[in-house]
Amino acid sequence: MIKLHDLQFIPFITEDEIIVAIDKISEKLNKDFADKTPLFISVLNGAFMFTSEVIKRFNHDCEVTFVKLSSYQGTKTTHQVQQLIGLEENISDRDVIILEDIVDTGNTIEVLSNILKDKGCTTFKIATLFFKSEVYTKQINIDYLGIDIPNRFIVGYGLDYNGLGRNLTEVYQLKSNTMTNLVLFGPPGAGKGTQAEVLKQKYDLIHISTGDVFRYNIKNATDLGTLAKSYIDKGQLVPDEVTINMLNAEVDKNPDAKGFIFDGFPRTEDQADSLAKLLASKGSEVSAMVALEVEDEVLVQRLLERGKTSGRPDDADERIIRNRIKVYYNETAILKNYYQKQDKYFGVDGVGAIDEITERLSNTIDSL
Ligand code: IMP
Ligand code: MG
Repeated sequence: MIKLHDLQFIPFITEDEIIVAIDKISEKLNKDFADKTPLFISVLNGAFMFTSEVIKRFNHDCEVTFVKLSSYQGTKTTHQVQQLIGLEENISDRDVIILEDIVDTGNTIEVLSNILKDKGCTTFKIATLFFKSEVYTKQINIDYLGIDIPNRFIVGYGLDYNGLGRNLTEVYQLKSNTMTNLVLFGPPGAGKGTQAEVLKQKYDLIHISTGDVFRYNIKNATDLGTLAKSYIDKGQLVPDEVTINMLNAEVDKNPDAKGFIFDGFPRTEDQADSLAKLLASKGSEVSAMVALEVEDEVLVQRLLERGKTSGRPDDADERIIRNRIKVYYNETAILKNYYQKQDKYFGVDGVGAIDEITERLSNTIDSL
């Protein structure tokens, strides 16, 4: 998360994704304008970074010029576009390509296209790195489109919030809500289930246990459940995409949730990336990975004790117990590292009375 002026922004589009989009646009431009000498008109300020990337990739003769238009104040469009730097070139019979960082309502593009028409340029093309198709109100065709984004305020890669953020090489979106999303971890026997239940009540969170979600979808033969079952029946792992779609459906069922406790997911870095994407699409993010820490010997004793009454065969055999604990540490090590890099990993001492442990967890959650 980053802060610009008074607002918080969370990661949204990676540099890699942006580069892929720019490569694609540039490839098409190189093809379409191979035997021409186009004039690129870059719309300042936001388009400077996109412009430089496109121009670097353009392999034929070309010219570049700039106009400066402005319509945004803070995070809102004013619907009035001002021309701050005009166009000096003769463009009447040029092959013009407008380079925009982002097309939102399309007001800017409309004003600019009128300016071009007034100057006798009738056939120009428009290339934009980002496009908010949901809010675009104009008929003007966008010829080269990088990435279509939902109606969110973004910064980075040339785009700013009141002057700041243009230098970011990734795109961030305005953090739109204050959800608390926890990824809860704990080795078998750490009391994860118990604590999840308490935290869910205390913070009014929705507990999403991947195991439960799977069982629910399979039992009710939902499309995704049936799909998942087809893999399970063949003894194959359910692809991440299917799992994430199920989680997405769970998240969508609770549009007003104050947050979620994810339990049993993610297990891999890829899954953690998918979860980040899923939450980003809701304008949110993982707040913390919280892991209950309990020594192996204590876990073994607890589980053996539980095995005496639970009837679970995997709780009765010490060798199986130790192996389950080992598997847990192998799996979580990767994620611990992943979330530690984002300063989101919190280990919490899981030994003591239930309410003592809840208090430790609460201290962590309250500090987020
Ligand atoms: P439009 O006139 O509504 O299409 O808006 C176009 C201009 O508004 C862009 O060139 C940007 O300068 C600015 N703009 C639109 N959306 C955003 C955003 O999400 N972040 C930053 N600037 C934006
Ligand atoms: Mg602009």
